[in-house]
Amino acid sequence: MEFMDLHIQEEELLREIEEVFTQTLKTARYVGGGFVEDFEEEFALWVGVNCSVSVGSGTQALKYCLWALGIGEGDEVITTPLTFVATAEAIVSLGARPVFVDVNPETFQIDEGKIEESVTDKTKAILPVHLFGAPAEMGKIMDIAERYNLRVVEDAAQAHGALYRGRKVGSIGHCGAFSFYPTKNLSAMGEAGAVTTNSREIARRVRLIKNHGQDRPYHSLFPGENGRMDAIQAGILLKKLKYIDRWNLRRREIAEIYRREFSGLVQVQKVGEDSVSAYHLFVILHPGRDKLQRELASWDIPTRVYYPIPLHLQKAFSYLGYRKGDFPVAERISSSLLALPIGPWMKDEEVSRVVEGLKKAFKK
Ligand SMILES: Cc1ncc(COP(=O)(O)O)c(C=O)c1O
Repeated sequence: MEFMDLHIQEEELLREIEEVFTQTLKTARYVGGGFVEDFEEEFALWVGVNCSVSVGSGTQALKYCLWALGIGEGDEVITTPLTFVATAEAIVSLGARPVFVDVNPETFQIDEGKIEESVTDKTKAILPVHLFGAPAEMGKIMDIAERYNLRVVEDAAQAHGALYRGRKVGSIGHCGAFSFYPTKNLSAMGEAGAVTTNSREIARRVRLIKNHGQDRPYHSLFPGENGRMDAIQAGILLKKLKYIDRWNLRRREIAEIYRREFSGLVQVQKVGEDSVSAYHLFVILHPGRDKLQRELASWDIPTRVYYPIPLHLQKAFSYLGYRKGDFPVAERISSSLLALPIGPWMKDEEVSRVVEGLKKAFKK
């Protein structure tokens, strides 16, 4: 069994992807063009926003959201230490400062009850991460943002199709950042990302930023970047978009089996009552995590550790001055979290093998 099997499982989709390659070769539109425009339109419709802007990666999507909101030198952005490094990198790349807030011990999301005490006169934005596919507590986060006049950028890199109070994540804050890295629920065959927003002005700025600040060829309004998505990736994403709801349904089905079978056996990530997870990952907590992982591996059950070192303890961010013990919940979760295999490619017998394996490990 593989932890993630990234082969295309559907014959029909394989044919559609071959068509994308053929059409791209025929038209020789390798950057921009029909696939990019169509994908942006379809993805915006699917997320439920006015605009989506394709970019080259999830990291660029995060950076361009913050940039378009005017965040820069000396500003502070509140975020979680329990996430992939790109979340904080995007903040740092604009000269701003990540301010970490500990996470909730049950949902593993940024603890919204601790955000307010970290707001200063330099705070400009909150950057919640919908961790492992489950939505952060957006209602309370939006309330705090309104009270202190802060912007909210959703890191939705892991949560395509997750719902909060019936709305898809990426449509709730001022803007959302998606990654289509090959392991994600909706994935390209290389690097790709998107910004989603209801604000035409934010979308306009992101379009300028990702294209060297140009509003027309060779007329640059400010120094931007090259952050465009390849036409081939857009074509592949456009085809895969038709399958994502079905794939997410299968993820939820497997998660329900895990939840039912592991009830009372081991702690699993709690999903808020207002939320539906996209189950990018299914994670459990166990103090003897490393031993459990070895044992499961010996029964051919692959697992992964996310994230072994929380961001405040990473060398890259040592200049921020945080120390061990500053965020005890995130630190405890980092040392005891284990992700089990989950994905639309899993066969019923593989799901059963994971269930039986975990039960066997806990019987000892
Ligand atoms: C939470 C989170 N944020 C941001 C990113 C960055 O996305 P990308 O790898 O497409 O740059 C990722 C993906 O790896 C992620 O998991």
